[in-house]
Amino acid sequence: MKLFLDTADIDEIRTAVRWGVIDGVTTNPTLYAKVKGATYDDILREICGLTPGPVSAEVVADDVEGMLTEGRHFAKIAPNIVVKVPMTENGLEAMSRFKAEGIKTNCTLIFTANQGLLAAKAGASLLSPFVGRLDDINEEGMTCIRELAEIVNFYDLDAEVLAASIRHPRHVTEAALAGAHVATLPFKVLQQMVHHPLTDLGVERFRKDWTAARAAAATNSAAKSG
Ligand code: E4P
Repeated sequence: MKLFLDTADIDEIRTAVRWGVIDGVTTNPTLYAKVKGATYDDILREICGLTPGPVSAEVVADDVEGMLTEGRHFAKIAPNIVVKVPMTENGLEAMSRFKAEGIKTNCTLIFTANQGLLAAKAGASLLSPFVGRLDDINEEGMTCIRELAEIVNFYDLDAEVLAASIRHPRHVTEAALAGAHVATLPFKVLQQMVHHPLTDLGVERFRKDWTAARAAAATNSAAKSG
């Protein structure tokens, strides 16, 4: 399964890229609002320079022509830009027109398998169901991932299911088991995936034992030579 980072924070992306575990990045207006002092274009340009993988840039217009204008502009920033378009009637039309122009799209704000099926039919290459936001309203977010992944695989659709709105490491495991092709994670969740108390304890214990063994060896060899 591919892992994307769900952030517009350059330092977080740099770190995850250094770890060698990141296949792409997703951004949205809310994530952009958290990083201050640069234009969205500048941020996108910098992210695209850090990863060769897909970088999602979200349109905010709600009419077709507005979405097309914003998306065409993003697509010129770098070849790995994917235009993020919301699941609306206008969004479907925009995705189908982007497809005709050879611009890749990520359909965002998907909450049912039917919405995902429509987005795939319209030509989106990434389908983003929001797991956490479904869980928030007492629905089973992972059901949408499982159903949509089955549909995509069953009909061999030219699209990938991207598990979005991931809130904790367990979501990542469940999305992988449910057949998601990609999960996009906040940096905090990526860090949580790295750590386990027994790993941290084990590293500490090995270090202590190593230091004690070296000290004992040094004492032993000093005794022999003295
Ligand atoms: C990803 O593409 C989405 O924008 C993101 O995962 C939304 O997550 P949230 O529900 O935590 O805002």
